[in-house]
Amino acid sequence: MALEILTYPDERLKQISLPVQQVDDSLRAFIAELERAMRAAPGGVGIAAPQVGCFQRIAIIDVSARPEIASHGRMVLINPEITSWEGMVKGREGCMSVPDFTGNVMRAERITVSALDERGEPRKYHCEGYEARAVQHEIDHLDGLLFLDRLVSRRTDLFRRKRYASRKTA
Ligand code: NI
Repeated sequence: MALEILTYPDERLKQISLPVQQVDDSLRAFIAELERAMRAAPGGVGIAAPQVGCFQRIAIIDVSARPEIASHGRMVLINPEITSWEGMVKGREGCMSVPDFTGNVMRAERITVSALDERGEPRKYHCEGYEARAVQHEIDHLDGLLFLDRLVSRRTDLFRRKRYASRKTA
């Protein structure tokens, strides 16, 4: 059965997720389900566990469908921590949990993120541009934040979607 995506204004999206204690087969099975939910969304480039009501610090990012963007391909981030930020840039974001809107949000242009991978091994990634934005967006979900909470201005930086499939979602 497909996982249900929680959508704004569901209060559960404000919950702060807890660190994963053990990376094991049952966690990997959940990650596979989570990835299926991400891939089922038109233009889905990322997903975080709390979006399906699992309040653990897990996110998946894959922006490689846009080959013009430098990226690591598929990244599974367990207990991710951003350890460095550089530059700030405004850019458009969408979210599976906010299906009717997109918005302009300021994000760091380059970040370093440390996390466990799905084998439980520590990894470190240097991300930039759109991939860095997607990572920051997903980690926000783990802290109970949506892009709506970070809009530069609700009046000028929030846009109603014409068609859901017309924008990338994360
Ligand atoms: Ni999102």
